[in-house]
Amino acid sequence: MIVAVDGPSAAGKSTTVIALSRELNFLYIDTGAMYRAYTLMALRSEIPLEDESAISALRDKVEIELVNHPEGMVVLLNGEDVSKEIRMDYISKSVSIVSSYMHVREKMVELQREMGDNQAVICEGRDIGTVVFPNADLKIFLTADVKERARRRQRDLLKLNINKELDEIKRDLARRDQLDSSRKISPLKRAENAVLIDTTFMTFKEQVNFIKELILAKNEGKF
Ligand code: DC
Repeated sequence: MIVAVDGPSAAGKSTTVIALSRELNFLYIDTGAMYRAYTLMALRSEIPLEDESAISALRDKVEIELVNHPEGMVVLLNGEDVSKEIRMDYISKSVSIVSSYMHVREKMVELQREMGDNQAVICEGRDIGTVVFPNADLKIFLTADVKERARRRQRDLLKLNINKELDEIKRDLARRDQLDSSRKISPLKRAENAVLIDTTFMTFKEQVNFIKELILAKNEGKF
């Protein structure tokens, strides 16, 4: 069974999907982490982000693996654990441009499809229901008001001892949403048959349980 979860930044996709993958014993695929790792490779190679052909050429040198551990997912870039590094703000600020390049996306989509082959998978990103797994058994589009998403992101950052103004977070999120939704290739878009869930007024537990019920109902052929 394949469950596709798409939606804008900081809508709570990762935390929700991690909880679900643990409860239901599904493989978790965080596709954003893969674009982040590719971006890290580009920055380390000191390639200007606007140089699409040089960034695309990295595709043959870049090896990205996601390893599901009980304590969390580990992201390996050419064998190195970059799980923490890819969450840094400088990566968040650069990833939209790298992920807009066609050759980068082709390579990532290929890897994502290989990972999802013949497994119970829950995969999150921006184009999962539309491009990566258009035949997914269940598609969810998870969203929330930008102010609420900024508040949640601020709380997460505080846990990492990073203090960032709410307005700045809101501006960064809005900018990323705009770039991700307006790019030519595989923009962030709700698939026609995706279930839209607005979590602005939902607790974390409510959103996990809601999706869990949908997955179980789908599995039992109830909808
Ligand atoms: O989910 P995230 O914030 O870790 O994603 C980082 C960036 O990667 C996001 O700005 C858009 C891009 N992305 C994408 O283009 N396609 C995906 N399937 C997942 C993420």
